[in-house]
Amino acid sequence: EIRKLLVLPGDHIGPEIIAEALKSLTVLEEERPDFKVQISYGLIGGASLDKTNEPITDEVLDAALSSDAILLGSVGGPEWAHVPGAISPEKGILRLRQRLDAFANIRPCRFCASSLMDQSALKSDVVKDVNFIVVRENCGGAYFGTKTEGEDEASDLWIYRRAEIERCARVSAALARTMVKDDKSPAIVWNADKANVLASGRFWRTVTHDVFEREFSDIELRDQLADSAAMIMVKAPTKLNGVIHTDNTFGDILSDISGGIVGSLGVLPSASVCGIPGEGPVKGIYEAVHGSAPDISGRGEANPIAQILSLAMLLRYSFSTPREADLLEEAVRKTLDSHDNNGLEIRTKDLGGSSSTREVGDTVASQFRIL
Ligand code: NAI
Ligand code: MG
Repeated sequence: EIRKLLVLPGDHIGPEIIAEALKSLTVLEEERPDFKVQISYGLIGGASLDKTNEPITDEVLDAALSSDAILLGSVGGPEWAHVPGAISPEKGILRLRQRLDAFANIRPCRFCASSLMDQSALKSDVVKDVNFIVVRENCGGAYFGTKTEGEDEASDLWIYRRAEIERCARVSAALARTMVKDDKSPAIVWNADKANVLASGRFWRTVTHDVFEREFSDIELRDQLADSAAMIMVKAPTKLNGVIHTDNTFGDILSDISGGIVGSLGVLPSASVCGIPGEGPVKGIYEAVHGSAPDISGRGEANPIAQILSLAMLLRYSFSTPREADLLEEAVRKTLDSHDNNGLEIRTKDLGGSSSTREVGDTVASQFRIL
């Protein structure tokens, strides 16, 4: 079976770190002759604006629709920011997400190597066993509701439809099943909403509970008001271990806080999926959490780990190769916890090391090969 992958390298460090992730994919193809990937490339962001005046073309969107997965580099940069009235490169990502209806954004919060704990914004004994996944509803709520902007007032309609909440709840449940606790039961799902003040929040809670009672009665579902979840996340984040199921607005904030727990932008992956993981392969968009880092592009300094871990998520959810995903994550862990011939850590500058983008990518790929 041939899997179809669309690679959109993006701008600035996007293509630099995409190239490193693809090295590990090549290893997998070499080691596993039955595993075949057909890769095609397209433009997105500033690269696309320069060529076509669009941040993404219909042709690329169609290619995305007919692919099994999209590996996306980060987009944007100052050269496209100052044109008044122009479309921004980031619009390309929004259009891609909307066209594919990539409704659940998944961001894991845990350390990909224990040696990274000192990068955390929090004390290492508080964060060391942190292991939760934020599932953010990605296509509804206040960000997509009808907007009005007048002279003296403005509004955003914070609206949720039953089906939007249901499908997101199913993603959260599916991930809880993959994160079993010590006694082999599924992880807890934390429902983070504001049912105390928002009508849409009460609806979110009701629909979520309906879905879990009907379809996932073996999974423990607990409510946590979104603001208090934010507090717990910085005081005792391990209390939230499991899956955090939340709406678009709260998910935006909670997933950024969870990024602060891990500390270094250069190692945070994400997935936006278009279906329920675990029910066979789902289409998804896989990208680093960080932006295109124009300040360091072209210098070989960019950390490729976030993009490589995004590839691991792609293997897990879209290519249904969870074992290979585990092995790639293991290769990342080994790379970050090991030293080169001179006793230096194999890390880029953002993690306090002096390795180049390429050295880190090559080391991960070679660790992946050994396994
Ligand atoms: P940024 O995430 O690109 O950079 C913030 C800081 O982190 C910079 O100092 C950068 O050098 C560093 N950094 C980020 N990724 C790194 C990596 N892999 N290795 C080493 N250092 C890294 O955010 P910024 O500077 O606010 O935005 C730059 C551009 O990226 C803007 O045009 C912004 O709109 C765009 N952007 C795009 C996103 C996307 O493609 N999904 C997400 C966020 C921003
Ligand atoms: Mg955000």
